[in-house]
Formats: sequence, C-alpha cells, structure tokens
Amino acid sequence: MKVLVVGPGGREHAIVRALLADPYVSEVHAAPGNAGIAQIVPVHPVNASDPAAVTELARSLGSDLVIVGPEAPLAAGVSDALAEAGIPVFGPSREAAQLEASKAFAKQIMAAANVPTAMARVAATAEEAADALDTFGAPYVVKDDGLAAGKGVVVTSDRDEALAHAEACFDAGGTVVIEEYLDGPEVSLFVLSDGRHVVPLAPAQDFKRIFDNDEGPNTGGMGAYSPLEWAPANLVDDVIARVAQPTVDEMAARGTPFVGVLYCGLALTSRGMRVIEFNARFGDPETQAVLARLKTPLGGLLLAAAKGELDAMEQLKWDARTAVAVVVASENYPDTPRTGDPILGLVEAEAIEGVHVLHAGTRIDDAEIVSAGGRVLAVVALGQDLVQARDLAYAGVAEIGLEGSQHRTDIALKASRGEIVVPAGSAGVDNEKELS
Ligand code: AMP
Ligand code: GLY
Repeated sequence: MKVLVVGPGGREHAIVRALLADPYVSEVHAAPGNAGIAQIVPVHPVNASDPAAVTELARSLGSDLVIVGPEAPLAAGVSDALAEAGIPVFGPSREAAQLEASKAFAKQIMAAANVPTAMARVAATAEEAADALDTFGAPYVVKDDGLAAGKGVVVTSDRDEALAHAEACFDAGGTVVIEEYLDGPEVSLFVLSDGRHVVPLAPAQDFKRIFDNDEGPNTGGMGAYSPLEWAPANLVDDVIARVAQPTVDEMAARGTPFVGVLYCGLALTSRGMRVIEFNARFGDPETQAVLARLKTPLGGLLLAAAKGELDAMEQLKWDARTAVAVVVASENYPDTPRTGDPILGLVEAEAIEGVHVLHAGTRIDDAEIVSAGGRVLAVVALGQDLVQARDLAYAGVAEIGLEGSQHRTDIALKASRGEIVVPAGSAGVDNEKELS
C-alpha cells in the first residue's frame, strides 16, 4: 500500500514513522513534511491546504490512502477533493471538520447528541460577552470561535483580560464562545471513526501552557504522555458510550459522516466527565506519545477507517511501556517565535536507548537542520514506567542544542509522583440528571 501523509509537523512525523513500521505499507510520501520527515521518506513541496494540488500529487503518486494531519487542510476541503477523485482519505470532510473549526457548531452537535460539555454562550458583541462572563463567573473562559492553533482560548480570573480577548476576536471579525470553567484533570482521547463505527486509541495527557506548573499563555501543546495510569478504569468505555458514538451518530444522521480522528478533549470534573473541545484530527504532541506505543500496523487501521470497515478490525495492540514526549520550542513561542537557528545534538539524543526525535518546525538550510517554527521538535521516550520514560526523554532534551530554546521541565511529573487527583464521581453518570 502506498500512503501520502499531508502536513508539516511533529504529528505527521509520528504518523510517517509508524507507517514505515507497517509491513503492508510499501511506500510513504509526505507533503510538505519537514526536515526530519525528509530524512526518512520523499517529501513534496505542495501547499497542504490546496485541495487541487494535494489531489494531483496523490494521483501522480498512485496513493492508496491519504492521511490528512492538520486542521487547516481539513477545513479547506482537502478530504472532499480526494474523495471526489476516488482516493481513500483518512480525515473528515470540510463539513464534518466543523466539529473543530467552529466551536459554536461543536456545541450544537453536543447539545443534539446529549454529550456532556461545559455550559456555553456565543457572543458577538462586547455587551453580550460581558453578560455571559457575569452569568458564569470567574474563572472566565473565552474562546475564539474559529481555528486558532490552540492559542485562541483565554482562561483567566481577570474580567478585563477576558473581555479584552473577546473584543480582540470581534475586531478580527469573529465571534466568541464563553463558557463555565471546568475543574479537574484533562484527558485527550483519540477515537478513530469510519463514519459509523468507532475505535479508541490509548488516552494521553497534554500540557497546554508554555511554562512549568501550567503557567503562562496557552500553546499548541508542550508535551504529552500515555497511557494514563491514574485514569478511571471505565473512562474509555464511558467516552465511547457518552461522547464519541453519539457524536458520530449525530454527524451521520445529518448526512455529514465523520471519518477520521475525533479528538475528545475532556475534563474529569467533580460533576462528571465533560468535553472541553473536539478536534477533527490527531492531537499534537499527544500523537507523538500515543503512536510510539501502538503495535497494530497504522496503515491498515487508517485504511479500514477510510473505507468504512473499522468494525472488522481486531483489538488494537499496545506496547506495555509508557511514552513521554517533551517539546522543544523556539525562543518567544507562542508569541513570535525566533527561527533560522541551527539545531544540534539530534544524533546524540537518538543514540539514547528508547529515545527518538520527531521534528515539527524544522527545515534544511545549506545542508544544516535549522528551526522553522514555534514548536521545533519533540523528544519521545519509551520507559518501563513514567519515571524512566521521563528520565530518558529529558536526557534526550539535554542533548539538543538550540539557541534560546525553551521546554517545560514538568511533563508527566505529577503523574509520575502519583499526584493527580481525580475528583470522585468524575467518570460517573451523575450529570445525566443535570442534562435532562
Ligand atoms: P481548547 O482550545 O478549547 O482545547 O482550550 C485550550 C485549553 O484551555 C484547554 O486544554 C484547557 O486547558 C483550557 N480550557 C478550555 N476550556 C475550558 C473550560 N471550560 N474550563 C477550564 N479550562 C478550559
Ligand atoms: N495538543 C492539542 C492539540 O493538538 O490541539
């Protein structure tokens, strides 16, 4: 099977790496990829968000499957163009991708499918925003309605800051979603969907803020680990039964079946499990940790999803070890990241047993690998437990040399010390009362 992977980031590097380990995959190509992806497969300099260009490339390569990584190409209709050309594609149609591209749409679907989520209101003016902020109270949660690479959400106890974010979104021509604050630990669960059937991957946890102890602004994600030893035993079944299957059913009933990854971003609150957000794709950097453990060949799995045949899949197989991914970001990320600096120590990091490096914002400049984006790379390690996986990942990070770079030092730290507290009742069904 020949597979084309669309996208430029760490998630796509993880996907390409997993495909190369699939015995049924004979050829992997990427577009546009990055410097790390280019070291292992041929890359093609097409614009990932240009439906015609991606379709033409897939046709010329004779691709049997195209995997669309990021949200922007999905929202631009790349999957629709491929499907029209008769090329199997893993990644939702433009309409189905609205589950991520519009937070207001996602809320409508969740309401229709009775999926537990934060109470929310859409606001289009400063007055409406102020009213919604006062209804829900502090801490305030204000979300840009459109795609914002994980950076459109402000969570703050400062009412002026919350209002200022809403006004900035209005000035840019958008609306905002204002919602109640959800306490409790967060979980990212990727659920594969073929439009009707769903198959969950292993849960992961992401670290959204730029600084240790969850301080500073939100980013696309600074690190991840999987699995979650502390998660309630019924968590995955619960998410399938109450979130993923109802959402997939609702999308199918509307004539816009969802094929791809339904990324369920969840909070385990004292009042029950709640959806924080849906994404329509694999998360980054959670994918780097999750796919490091997946033993089931990835190409066959995603092809089955693309063809509506997920119900025929055998139970997924996982490495018993734990994976930790630590992101190395540029100076000034997430604001205006500094780029163009040489990246040293890549070979040394990968020489550590159990460690591999996945590139994100990198490119080749004069035969040298240099930084080209905010999140530059992730060091991924597999260990017998979280303590060992963390030690290995950070040993890898210590080998990386990048002027001005930043990384969090506390990825998976609390979990490795058994310090994550899951509120009682978080995975229960208590909130069904509240919804009805
Ligand atoms: P989102 O883009 O919706 O995932 O939001 C980014 C991050 O903001 C989430 O991962 C949470 O850490 C935080 N967040 C979003 N919505 C809420 C909420 N209702 N309550 C508390 N934190 C939230
Ligand atoms: N890591 C969060 C995301 O991919 O949206």
